[in-house]
Amino acid sequence: TRARITIDRDFTIADVPRRLFGSFVEHMGRCVYTGIYEPGHPTADDRGYRKDVLELVRELGPTVVRYPGGNFVSGYLWEDGIGPVAERPRRIDGAWHTIETNEFGLHEFMGWAREADVEVMEAINLGTRGVEEARALVEYANHPGGTYWSDLRRRNGAEDPFDIKLWCLGNELDGPWQIGHKTAHEYGRLAQETAKAMKLVDDSIELIAVGSSNRYMETFGSWEHTVLTHAYDEIDYISMHEYYQERSGDAASFLAEAVGMDAFIDGVVATIDAVKAAGKHTKQVDISFDEWNVWYAEGLDSADQIHQVKKEWREHPRLIEDEYSVTDAVVVGTLLNSLLRHGDRVRIANQAQLVNVIAPIRSEEGGSAWRQTIFWPFARMAALARGQILRLAVSADQIATEKFGDVDVIDAAATWSEADGRVALFVANRGLSEASEVSVDLRGLGAARVVSAEVLTIPEGGDRHTSNVESAPDAVGLVPLTGVGVQDGTVHLTLPPLSWAV
Ligand code: AHR
Repeated sequence: TRARITIDRDFTIADVPRRLFGSFVEHMGRCVYTGIYEPGHPTADDRGYRKDVLELVRELGPTVVRYPGGNFVSGYLWEDGIGPVAERPRRIDGAWHTIETNEFGLHEFMGWAREADVEVMEAINLGTRGVEEARALVEYANHPGGTYWSDLRRRNGAEDPFDIKLWCLGNELDGPWQIGHKTAHEYGRLAQETAKAMKLVDDSIELIAVGSSNRYMETFGSWEHTVLTHAYDEIDYISMHEYYQERSGDAASFLAEAVGMDAFIDGVVATIDAVKAAGKHTKQVDISFDEWNVWYAEGLDSADQIHQVKKEWREHPRLIEDEYSVTDAVVVGTLLNSLLRHGDRVRIANQAQLVNVIAPIRSEEGGSAWRQTIFWPFARMAALARGQILRLAVSADQIATEKFGDVDVIDAAATWSEADGRVALFVANRGLSEASEVSVDLRGLGAARVVSAEVLTIPEGGDRHTSNVESAPDAVGLVPLTGVGVQDGTVHLTLPPLSWAV
């Protein structure tokens, strides 16, 4: 197949929002316990942080990490996770049918985030709790001192405020599975009043209201409209969540899911702007796509979520530890492209989750840690997407898909960093059997040379299902993309079938 991409340095979308490369740590399964935190592990430091995992996190390069949930947060009492560890209560976490020891809490997470060099995005419980507990938490975290909650933080060992800027006003409260599920009207008012009270404690914070759990929710559209109508003035972002998976062996549709993500984002932007116009608001609300990934959630995306994990009550059970293939990595690359293409309105995004639970990084208790296939597109884009997002003109051969009709055989996004004079191009070939000849016309940029070209594709002896496992952690990775040339300002490259290149 063939494709042509035209880039013009004057056609830009926005600056690259660095918070687009976010991740998510939930008290779920083995993300915290035996994931980022495992006292007694050979690599653990004196606070119990696994250094092998930390090293991989730094290499992955997330900029912001959402915490502590997820469905978990809708039944969580944040005060359980502060103070002397020995005195912290053991609780039932109904969301994941788990025993929460509370050995790890806010201070432990803040310490870990500092080590990982990431910004913290804190979610509050608006399932079982409300305005009072939320404003207390902001005071505890952000007030310098001299008040009840801020002095308690200092007594608990944190003299300086945590200064958390980003706050999620609950999680997936549109979902019937959520503890404290609400109607859009109930949630919209609660979000509005909670936001108001939190900003009265600290007016420098940024607030994210809950949007739809996915675009197939019956209330999608009307939920956003109602919530925004109530809370437009008090909030800064509305959230989006969506997980993608290959269904019934339909790889073509799966590989085109970025087309669906594009449409989902466009729909939410339209809704925000309609409420803005009708309400005569001047400020712009943007999007926080704070849960996205590939997740083989067969049966879990129903109202039935929690029942799927009901076995005996356990601490950190093994939950949804999906093993990712080459195909999944290519899809993740295209989803990141979609987010980048919408960087003028999607200003925050979090891949869910960071370790073990549908994650780019896997770790075993007492054992090793390794990179899943989906680690690679994330790591490269987080490192190389710099400067301005470019608006691309793509003209490509089409491939037929059942879900989205005919789609471009390639999926691309690019950035231009004036500071170092570099263009970064991220491009996937969705074709399962044919290579794609791609030419990239770089108008006004005077393309001189290719600094580096890498590709993730099916490895020798493997197939599109090949994944990285503990015994073969490097089966799938990035290899040099050979034969990339520049001629008269145009870059020519050949993408192997089913591949993602940078
Ligand atoms: O990331 C896993 C779960 O998916 C989260 O807890 C929830 O918010 C979503 O349904």
